[in-house]
Amino acid sequence: MSFDFQGRTVAVSGAAIGFGRGICEAFAAAGARVYGCDIRAADLQAVARDMGVTTQDIDLTDRHAAAGWIRDVERLSGGAIDVLVNNAGGVAGQAFQPLEEVEDADWDRVMAVNLGAAMALSRAATPGMKAAGRGAIVNIGSGASLQASLTGVQAYCAAKHAILGLTRQLAQELGPHGVRVNCVAPGFVQTNEATARQWAAYSPERREAMVQAIPLRRFGTPQDIARATLFLASDEASFITGQILSVNGGR
Ligand SMILES: NC(=O)c1ccc[n+]([C@@H]2O[C@H](COP(=O)([O-])OP(=O)(O)OC[C@H]3O[C@@H](n4cnc5c(N)ncnc54)[C@H](O)[C@@H]3O)[C@@H](O)[C@H]2O)c1
Repeated sequence: MSFDFQGRTVAVSGAAIGFGRGICEAFAAAGARVYGCDIRAADLQAVARDMGVTTQDIDLTDRHAAAGWIRDVERLSGGAIDVLVNNAGGVAGQAFQPLEEVEDADWDRVMAVNLGAAMALSRAATPGMKAAGRGAIVNIGSGASLQASLTGVQAYCAAKHAILGLTRQLAQELGPHGVRVNCVAPGFVQTNEATARQWAAYSPERREAMVQAIPLRRFGTPQDIARATLFLASDEASFITGQILSVNGGR
């Protein structure tokens, strides 16, 4: 299936690496005007250079800055955002710690980047989408939206479950305005230092068991996640809202 996003404005959070970079690339190839933000300035510059994405260095844990980025995208594109992809997230450099050792600041940061940012960006993009009478929001959840997380990071699992709740609730609220809200739930993909560390910590037996637990017998790629995201954002999915789509090889 090939998608046509000619003339559409797409905003992708966490655009610098991994899924966000892959999602930007796929939307740009489908003809969209793509805007991306992140805190990884150097990687973001590469996305701007390689794909013609308009990028901005924004720390999304600052909700005021997040809303400001949406206003900038609307101003630069000359109208409402057609597609918002809430992709920024991850474990903020953290690994499993027993619950009794989890610091408030660690918990808050993971909740802020995974959940607070998605709420703040969606809230800021909603008036434009409502006025246009159309729009699509795709939230990047996780297998941890549906079950315990491989990372063991409590806040990550809680935030990704909450992303699914936000998806369902916003689908109810915004459906009457022509705005669809869906969630993609990727399985484990090595995309960054944290997932590389996570992988390195597994024994050869655990690695093999992880692959064997996937019916399609391979890990996913950023392109797999991007294709599902484009589908849910596209007119091909015009009667789909409030749903979660697992992209995990059937695990
Ligand atoms: N890689 C995986 O195995 C996996 C699996 C399931 C879900 N996910 C989710 O998919 C999304 C993308 O994951 P990924 O593995 O490609 O990369 P990632 O988890 O490292 O994070 C995505 C992007 O968000 C950016 N980001 C982090 N904090 C930010 C902040 N405060 N402000 C702005 N940007 C910030 C990062 O710099 C990164 O480019 C995340 O939401 C992640 O939780 C990843």
